[in-house]
Amino acid sequence: MADITRTIGLSLGADICWPICYEALLKQLDLELQVGGDKVRFDCERVLIQPFSLSSDCRYDVVIDRLTHWYHTSREWIKKAILVNDLYVFNNPWSIQSMEKQTTYAAMLRLGFPIPETWMVPPKAYEDYADLKPTLTRYARLFDLREIGDSIGYPLYMKPYDGGAWVGVTAIKDADGLVKAYDESGVRVMNLQKGVEPNDAFVRCIGLGPQFRPVNYDPGAPLHDRYQMDHDFLPDDQRQRLENMTMVINAFFGWDFNSCEALRQDGEWYPIDFANACPDSQVTSLHYHFPWLIKANLKWSIFCAATDRPMKTDLDWHEYFAIADQDIPFDEKLEGYVALARKRFDVDAFEEFCATHLSHLDEVADEFFGTDTVRDAIHQKVTALFPEHEIEEFTELFWNRVQEWRRVEGPGK
Ligand SMILES: Nc1ncnc2c1ncn2[C@@H]1O[C@H](COP(=O)(O)OP(=O)(O)OP(=O)(O)O)[C@@H](O)[C@H]1O
Ligand SMILES: [Mg+2]
Repeated sequence: MADITRTIGLSLGADICWPICYEALLKQLDLELQVGGDKVRFDCERVLIQPFSLSSDCRYDVVIDRLTHWYHTSREWIKKAILVNDLYVFNNPWSIQSMEKQTTYAAMLRLGFPIPETWMVPPKAYEDYADLKPTLTRYARLFDLREIGDSIGYPLYMKPYDGGAWVGVTAIKDADGLVKAYDESGVRVMNLQKGVEPNDAFVRCIGLGPQFRPVNYDPGAPLHDRYQMDHDFLPDDQRQRLENMTMVINAFFGWDFNSCEALRQDGEWYPIDFANACPDSQVTSLHYHFPWLIKANLKWSIFCAATDRPMKTDLDWHEYFAIADQDIPFDEKLEGYVALARKRFDVDAFEEFCATHLSHLDEVADEFFGTDTVRDAIHQKVTALFPEHEIEEFTELFWNRVQEWRRVEGPGK
């Protein structure tokens, strides 16, 4: 029997609240697990940004990364560490780098998901490249934007093909609005997407490894109220469908942590945004759901570290396409995709691991989320985001919502 210490690295940017809670709860758990004949303990450190050689060692077994999508040195360090040092990281940096929204729509359309009609249009304006003029003069064709708008139908949404955080997203009611929005879109490459409207539900389904949490979402509410506090608000079959869709999306793209936005129309769920490299993890937006995220993150990262989970760099899309190409209804295809996704996420082994080694996590977490450490983490995050005169009020609001989670969903509830 060997004594092993697995080190989990947190590659962070502006994150404040969740790492404080993650680190404190991991420390409090003080795990010493018997895994495959070894005695395994866990350390957690924040990853520093510094020069590295291709042959530098990597001191981490698992990295939870929040930087790859914009900070290239960290992205390249992580890719190097996967290739040279067998690091396991979530999320997969190659997949994040290459799967823009547009790509994810195309891939899920191929699998038969109900993706709303989506077009891409060349940009309205360009940065000046040496080859720009000859390329456009020879090959760019004038197109009739109104015709495309009519064929999609209104309302429609214009949004950047690789976007996030609502930047550049416009709801468009008619052809004049479309022309105006396009004229104002500048150099960004845009998707035009049919609005799933009217709709009677909007859900953000958060996925962390094979753990899912559908949250009722109100995009029109102020930031701190967008995630609604409803609990068990979906019938079982609908909840299952959303979780299945999210699991398949995440397994297909090799993402451990992602959220999938879907709108319901006539009883059907339409995914409209599911390429989130760095899903919202802040208590100031997740509030009531924040403890779920911390627990899910701990369970999945501890499982990955303890079992020395290998990074799956191949996505094995041919297995999904073999199902997609069969002449069977979508529901049957989805079952087949779910079986592949469950295998990729090692669901059975994960559940057994949690039952064997982490059965006390719920109790420990419940107590932890009532402590001053959490209150202080909330205070720090609120202080970073809110104006001075709102700090106490909003600290209290988010704290109370976390306490509400303990009351409603704590152990034994
Ligand atoms: N096809 C659609 N039908 C209806 N509403 C849509 C559609 N596409 C986008 N929206 C609305 O626009 C909002 C922003 O779009 P989207 O989520 O695609 O952009 P984003 O920049 O990724 O936003 P975020 O980072 O908040 O997820 C959605 O939350 C939704 O309210
Ligand atoms: Mg979105």
